[in-house]
Amino acid sequence: MLGVIGAMQIEVDKLIDTMSVEGQFEYSGFKYFKGKFGQTDTVVALGGIGKVNAALCAQIMIDKFSVDQIVNTGVAGGLCEEMSVFDIVVAESFVQHDMDASAIGDPVGFVSGVNKINFMCDTELSDRLVGAAKETKESEIFTGVVATGDQFISSREKGLWLRRSFGAVACEMEGGAIAHACCLAGVRFAAIRCISDSANDGANMSYEEFSGVAARLCSEIVLRAFWTND
Ligand code: ADE
Repeated sequence: MLGVIGAMQIEVDKLIDTMSVEGQFEYSGFKYFKGKFGQTDTVVALGGIGKVNAALCAQIMIDKFSVDQIVNTGVAGGLCEEMSVFDIVVAESFVQHDMDASAIGDPVGFVSGVNKINFMCDTELSDRLVGAAKETKESEIFTGVVATGDQFISSREKGLWLRRSFGAVACEMEGGAIAHACCLAGVRFAAIRCISDSANDGANMSYEEFSGVAARLCSEIVLRAFWTND
């Protein structure tokens, strides 16, 4: 069973409208739509914004629907000079940029227990997303590290810090938490994000204007990647 998580309604609307929905469920306030992408058994969830919401939504999805693979879809702030709004990022790994126990000796981003900074994505799932993104020919496609934290990044300084500290190409607020939950549960994970802003001083304006279209573009690629006819 495939699981797809989007934080906001605009990030899941197209998925729910296109799939055949066989049942709707609600657990801890999260909405789950179970059905099919063509012939692919899929559950789509509306996870809410931020790391705690995202991790809870993913864990409930794993427990209640026995998903063995989760894809996260949505919008992101771009951290590369050459990136434009509507470009696509397929994550190679995630970091949690707001995980900081450096005062007691850990490197910034280090998650003790699992003892890592980077949570790697599943290459087969990621390749499928890249393949589907290439078929659309609408946007440039980037791959790389995505930085997650409970913060909407709207400063050039902070964006540069994310790039310098983690080599991040994009930032958002959920993927790293879902990657963490999937890592603990042994569930394959991948993520695709469409750029809605440049995480700089004008990010809030750009986000307002472009997030709707960017979210939809991203979900169309997810459908293309995982839709099966037989
Ligand atoms: N999602 C889209 N743009 C973002 C940004 N600039 N920071 C965090 N999450 C985002």
